[in-house]
Amino acid sequence: MITTSGLTKVYRSRGREVTALDGVDLHVREGEVYGVIGQSGAGKSSLIRCVNLLERPTSGTVTVAGQDLTALAGRGPRAGRELRQARSRIGMVFQHFNLLSSRTVQDNVELPLEILGRSGKERSRKALELLDLVGLADKAKAYPAQLSGGQKQRVGIARALAGDPKVLLSDEATSALDPETTRSILALLRDLNRQLGLTVLLITHEMDVVKSICDSAALMEHGRFVESGTVTELLATPGSELASALFPVAGEVSGDNRTVLDITFQGESATQPVISQLSRTYNIDISILGAAIDTVGGLQVGRMRIELPGRYEDNVVPIGFLREQGLYIEAVEQSEPAQQAQQVDRAPSALVKEDAK
Ligand SMILES: Nc1ncnc2c1ncn2[C@@H]1O[C@H](COP(=O)(O)OP(=O)(O)O)[C@@H](O)[C@H]1O
Ligand SMILES: [Mg+2]
Repeated sequence: MITTSGLTKVYRSRGREVTALDGVDLHVREGEVYGVIGQSGAGKSSLIRCVNLLERPTSGTVTVAGQDLTALAGRGPRAGRELRQARSRIGMVFQHFNLLSSRTVQDNVELPLEILGRSGKERSRKALELLDLVGLADKAKAYPAQLSGGQKQRVGIARALAGDPKVLLSDEATSALDPETTRSILALLRDLNRQLGLTVLLITHEMDVVKSICDSAALMEHGRFVESGTVTELLATPGSELASALFPVAGEVSGDNRTVLDITFQGESATQPVISQLSRTYNIDISILGAAIDTVGGLQVGRMRIELPGRYEDNVVPIGFLREQGLYIEAVEQSEPAQQAQQVDRAPSALVKEDAK
């Protein structure tokens, strides 16, 4: 639904050059919620502003709903007619809401429809319908100053939906909100995603946002994607930083000459019978060091860290047995802390390629 290929953005100001995007290949599937997470300065806002051509990329292409936006003329407020039309089908939600304080809630939602030249009657009908959808039917005549932060963001979302977009972009939409309001806004975005079939690309610096609503995610550093994929793919990627941040599993190794394995399973599969079977079949004692079940992007995921006697080489057969059961197995090197050991095995590039198909 959204594809960028080789997207770069270099800002030039007063003789200085800043590379904000350095070859980003993004692929957001239709109907999914895709999260891009990264620290401040990673290039997240530049990415989202290039996706709707508020900024013109220095090179690379942006395709939304099959249309190559980079081929259309103009940029920002000077966009040509075709680009303006394409952009009206892309909704955008901002961290600081960007509401006009002199206009009522309803008039704020009507604004994009005025720009599209819709009649007063149609504007009013659409605005009231959208306010109802975001749970603000009773606030149509209020002014932004009379609303809480969460309510303001609901208005921002209603306004973003005015042009019946297929795609919604969100730049840190919940970063100015408290945790409870954040949850309700994320739940609203998830509902809209499901009810309207809306494809959502959101950027955030909060892992909890990714964890609660994203089907796919990318980790961005210095203008590049260092990892990307569906939550399922990430959880099955050796040493994925995103996976371990989304779903940490802990457990201290008990001594030398042990093999420590992290087991990840999804959905219905359960490890319990497999572990006892393993123990019986190979006559080995297995210690469970840590375990947790959680929901990541709406998916039930379990993780367990177990310990087997002997070195990795001694346990190749039992490990093969576990893999045959369809479990995802990752060996944790015991000479180093788990985090570092995982980085050694890291192979994010394979996933990025996977994602670009
Ligand atoms: N309009 C601009 N002019 C010059 N540099 C910019 C501009 N916008 C962003 N940058 C720089 O680009 C880099 C990425 O910024 P940004 O995309 O805002 O990152 P993020 O949203 O992840 O914090 C930063 O180094 C920032 O200072
Ligand atoms: Mg930003």
